[in-house]
Amino acid sequence: MKTLITNIGMLATATGSAAKKGAEQGNVSLTTNTWLIMENDKIAQVGTANQAVPAGADKTIDARGQLVTAGLVDSHTHLVFGGWREHELTMKLKKVTYLEILAQGGGILSTVNNTRKATKEELKAKTKKLLDRMLRLGVTTVEAKSGYGLTTETELKMLEVVKELQQEEKISLVSTFMGAHALPTDYKDKRDAYIDLVINETLPQVVEKHLAEFIDVFCEQGVFTPEESKKILLAGKKAGLGIKCHSDEIVPIGGTPMAAELGAISCEHLIKADAKGIAAMAQSGTIACLLPGTSFYLNSTYAPARDMINKGVPVAFGSDFNPGSCPSNSLQLAMHIGCYKYEMTPEECLTAVTLNGAAAINRAKTLGTVETGKQADLIIWDAPNLDYLFYRYGDNLVDTVIKNGEVLVTNPR
Ligand code: NIG
Ligand code: FE
Repeated sequence: MKTLITNIGMLATATGSAAKKGAEQGNVSLTTNTWLIMENDKIAQVGTANQAVPAGADKTIDARGQLVTAGLVDSHTHLVFGGWREHELTMKLKKVTYLEILAQGGGILSTVNNTRKATKEELKAKTKKLLDRMLRLGVTTVEAKSGYGLTTETELKMLEVVKELQQEEKISLVSTFMGAHALPTDYKDKRDAYIDLVINETLPQVVEKHLAEFIDVFCEQGVFTPEESKKILLAGKKAGLGIKCHSDEIVPIGGTPMAAELGAISCEHLIKADAKGIAAMAQSGTIACLLPGTSFYLNSTYAPARDMINKGVPVAFGSDFNPGSCPSNSLQLAMHIGCYKYEMTPEECLTAVTLNGAAAINRAKTLGTVETGKQADLIIWDAPNLDYLFYRYGDNLVDTVIKNGEVLVTNPR
């Protein structure tokens, strides 16, 4: 089945099959007045500017002179969880900090209680609804972390929800095991015993049941130290998982250089990343997965994205969607905040939410660009060009979402 998308006003895409760093991050191809052909689930041919439209398509989609990009890749979410935490909002407004709420047994730990209580079916129904919303906001691939179970049974329950949705939903899901997201209350004085449980009981079952591709740890003051994080990440690596690390989110305690030295595919958050961490990521080719929506909601500072780009670290953006530090599931909103607050150009930001996001979850060979041979995950925007897409923040600018060559969403015009 050959589908032609005609009348594309601007086709904006990063190029290639690996993360882009430095000046290359902003080196995006912008083709005006063009078309493309999808053959089944793949991109088969992309026109040049003003090139005559080929005949012979089975179906035609009219892009009405609008912008087309690759589908957005949300490379960092905590997608599966029980309950919400709206009661923390007023605490936050009264300046009770995120780590104080956690230390009082709230925060992540309150979501842990709700996630333990929820049945798999309840979690699945809730997650499915969230995925539908994300798809309508232009996201065609989502990374999802566990970490609200903190027992083997509940961690597996969360990861099984992701696995079932991977099989049943059209949006793509990539799974990360994050058993070391917090120290559960009942292990308060038994840190080593919990780390032992993660490494020797939960992780082997996650791997045996093929429930995750990556392992992640919350390396943070009052959560897991760099030494503890290293032990857990190395165990994951030995078991065949790729390494990700939540580091430098609130207090810089050395997680970034530690993870980069282990060959992490990505370090995530990095609000407080310092020169040493940035140099380590540049050296190891680790992607900086930045989460602008989290800085915004926590009212904190913003990651030093420009320094990272200048030092040759590839930058990706994720939503960090979770019930505590970023209750927004809109990667579009995150990319707008990222553009304005990191002072990154629309071109650099586009790469951050497409190719570099795909690279952060090891999908850069198949996703993240609009090029022949890539998966036909595409967005037709209600925007005539790339600058407009980054300028009109606060609305959902998606017109049409195409996933694997199939139109899944047509928003009202
Ligand atoms: O990425 N930092 C750790 N984990 C999440 C927040 C989880 C929560 O508060 O529920 C984050 O910000
Ligand atoms: Fe996170």
